[in-house]
Amino acid sequence: MSDINQQIMAALSTVIEPELHRDIVSLNMVRDLNIQGNTAHFTIVLTTPACPLKNVFLERCNAAVIGHVQGIEKLEISWDAQVPTDRKIHGRLDVPMRSLIAVASGKGGVGKSTVSTNLAAALAEAGAKVGLIDGDILNPNIPAMTGLGYGRPTVENGKMLPLEAYGIKIMSTGFFTSPDKPMILRGPMLHSAIRQLFTDVNWGDLDYMIVDLPPGTGDAPLSLAQSFPLTGAVIVTQPQDVAVSDALRSIAMFETLNVPIIGVVENMAGDFFGEGGGEKLAQERSVPFLGRIPLNAEVRKGGDYGHPIVVTDPTNPAGVAFQSMAQTVAARISMLMLQSPDFIPLSIIG
Ligand SMILES: Nc1ncnc2c1ncn2[C@@H]1O[C@H](COP(=O)(O)OP(=O)(O)OP(=O)(O)O)[C@@H](O)[C@H]1O
Ligand SMILES: [Mg+2]
Repeated sequence: MSDINQQIMAALSTVIEPELHRDIVSLNMVRDLNIQGNTAHFTIVLTTPACPLKNVFLERCNAAVIGHVQGIEKLEISWDAQVPTDRKIHGRLDVPMRSLIAVASGKGGVGKSTVSTNLAAALAEAGAKVGLIDGDILNPNIPAMTGLGYGRPTVENGKMLPLEAYGIKIMSTGFFTSPDKPMILRGPMLHSAIRQLFTDVNWGDLDYMIVDLPPGTGDAPLSLAQSFPLTGAVIVTQPQDVAVSDALRSIAMFETLNVPIIGVVENMAGDFFGEGGGEKLAQERSVPFLGRIPLNAEVRKGGDYGHPIVVTDPTNPAGVAFQSMAQTVAARISMLMLQSPDFIPLSIIG
């Protein structure tokens, strides 16, 4: 490395990634540095495309280099993103995905499917490769919420192709049944149905695989958490006490199974159910609070009509809240990856 390149890298190594709390050079986020005249060109590889901090990086890099490295008067930064790979998944599952996120709750009807859909849509819109599995085998809601109610997957080379909406690859048992017929499956079959949604589907490469779970701590969430290497669980709760106490049980289940808690989302906050219960729960359990989504009729309509509000009405307060929740989830996943020995750091993936 030439002298000036070294000086620039040294200057950039004082720039701290605000969420991961490490410098961007040791995180191997700075690539392809080259100098033309008085301008330094380089790429910053973020750990998620859903990163809201580009302006922060821009300012901090400029402050670190300009005026500190002689001869450099301008920075030209390009952006790229690589979601780090969860080492627990790597080599263990036949699905090339970098992270696997369960969305769970203690109580039913608190908004798991709504949160899963909007989280997936927000990450996909940011440019990530996203899969969404409807883990609610018996009462699948994801087809309707993504506008794929009458979709039927095709089979190619012995594997099903997921359906796509809003840039998300989606698979659900709802694609194989009609809504007026009950699905009757017992423990072992339920287990194998969940498994097939992973293994019998040609998912392609995925940055984030999201699994929308049925409520509670019964067979399905247990079987998922035991058979698949979950990167972590997002716990959804309503603000009121009964929902919060059920959410606590869900957190305890994942902790018992050694699944990291990505954090708690408080959904349907407002006059009706109150506010603050989810945040208090997160504080008490020392897990991150991922955000508060207001109770808002447009969210419900979006669910009914298959239009995730985060995409179709991003300036609606609930749309804004979902967007920010998705960014927080992505940042938290990057953080989990970089902290744990189970995760493959950015520096050794391609
Ligand atoms: N923030 C919100 N504001 C208004 N309505 C909402 C909000 N979040 C979810 N809903 C609505 O509440 C209902 C239940 O939400 P959803 O189906 O996502 O819950 P769930 O936890 O997945 O339920 P289940 O436990 O049955 O799987 C849906 O009609 C949905 O559109
Ligand atoms: Mg649901």
